Amino acid sequence: MKTDVAIIGGGPAGLMLGHLLRQQGIDAVIVERQSADYVLGRIRAGVLEKVTVDILKDLDLADRMNKEGLPHDGFFLADGERLIHIDIAELTCGSQVMVYGQTEVTRDLMDAADSRGLEIVYEAKDVAIHDVDSDAPYLTYLKDGVEQRLDARFIAGCDGFHGPSRKAIPDSVGKVYERVYPFGWLGILADVPPCNDELIYANHSNGFALASMRSNTRSRYYIQVPLDEKVEEWPDERLWDELAVRLGPEAGSRITRGPALEKSIAPLRSFVFEPMRYKSLFLAGDAAHIVPPTGAKGLNLASSDVAYLSRALISYFKEGKSDGIDTYSQTALARVWKSERFSWSLTTLMHRFPDDGDFGRRMQVAELDYIASSEAAKKSIAENYVGLPL
Ligand code: APR
Ligand code: PHB
Repeated sequence: MKTDVAIIGGGPAGLMLGHLLRQQGIDAVIVERQSADYVLGRIRAGVLEKVTVDILKDLDLADRMNKEGLPHDGFFLADGERLIHIDIAELTCGSQVMVYGQTEVTRDLMDAADSRGLEIVYEAKDVAIHDVDSDAPYLTYLKDGVEQRLDARFIAGCDGFHGPSRKAIPDSVGKVYERVYPFGWLGILADVPPCNDELIYANHSNGFALASMRSNTRSRYYIQVPLDEKVEEWPDERLWDELAVRLGPEAGSRITRGPALEKSIAPLRSFVFEPMRYKSLFLAGDAAHIVPPTGAKGLNLASSDVAYLSRALISYFKEGKSDGIDTYSQTALARVWKSERFSWSLTTLMHRFPDDGDFGRRMQVAELDYIASSEAAKKSIAENYVGLPL
């Protein structure tokens, strides 16, 4: 089989890239290790920046998001009983974020693939990358036990943090920047109404908590837990009790309890791999970078990578220009690092770090006091939260 762009990974990055290329008549094939149902079964964050909303609108795939999504004009930082409102609409001249689950974004992209000629090979095993340092790279993989070959002009590694594409870049070329946080997030998804109409990020003496939602009838909550914590140690009632404490008396008293639809613990890390291009191989999304979920940047960084990469590849195939692909890594990383900084800073501000001691806590109190009293500080948070311009 031959195509213009072979995409490894059928998550949000691979799906968005494939659709944007197909929309311009450029041939692309996605090779995905898992089944479609498995991909849809992943529970991920659900706060969309403008860049993600715009991709769905540009693809004419925004109808369900516009119908079911929740546009939000602000969010809260809670510190004990203090609630600091970040009015992002006022502070960013009308920008909003859209609360709409990543699973739903993925579903909308998957459902449109067939009708738009975007081929997705699911359950492709042992995907291997070949000859990326040539102009004729190719993939091999097993489908139903039979080895297949996919020749392409370029390969897009949209295969997430654990995929093979990053490893296809020589160690002498690649560089990793990483910070692993000394805690994880225990998350619960439940069909109960949210306790607040906007998100609340809370820094409590027991640890961080987040009140979020998927809709007006489905809530998503998280608490910071030690890295060695087991989900079995957190029966639903214990988790609901702890959320009521950490979110403070006002919001905590409005929590509606219900059985967990999903409950799991995820580690937190900041991670960047440079460069995001090596000859005929491009990286996009989690394949190149990971952010702690505190700023809800993961999906949105995949979107900005894909916005840059799709424009570069369209320019190459339709205009014969290489400047976009030649500057892709530098352009994408400039935005990646700004989001990494924001996610790291909000994580540092809102979590309890076991080794930071009293001085570290006083630094958090001082910064929250400053944010509470400064329009400029709130504006800085707001413009990063809605997403910096491309
Ligand atoms: N072969 C083929 N596909 C693979 C391989 C492989 N060897 N390894 C991984 N994949 C697939 C995964 O099964 C997954 O469907 O690549 C896809 C990567 O998708 P994501 O991990 O969702 O990453 P990305 O598309 O970059 O989206 C980033 O997803 O994980 C969240 O928090 C993250 O919100 C962010 C968003
Ligand atoms: C979520 O709703 O899952 C969510 C929202 C905001 C975040 C992280 C996760 O920062």
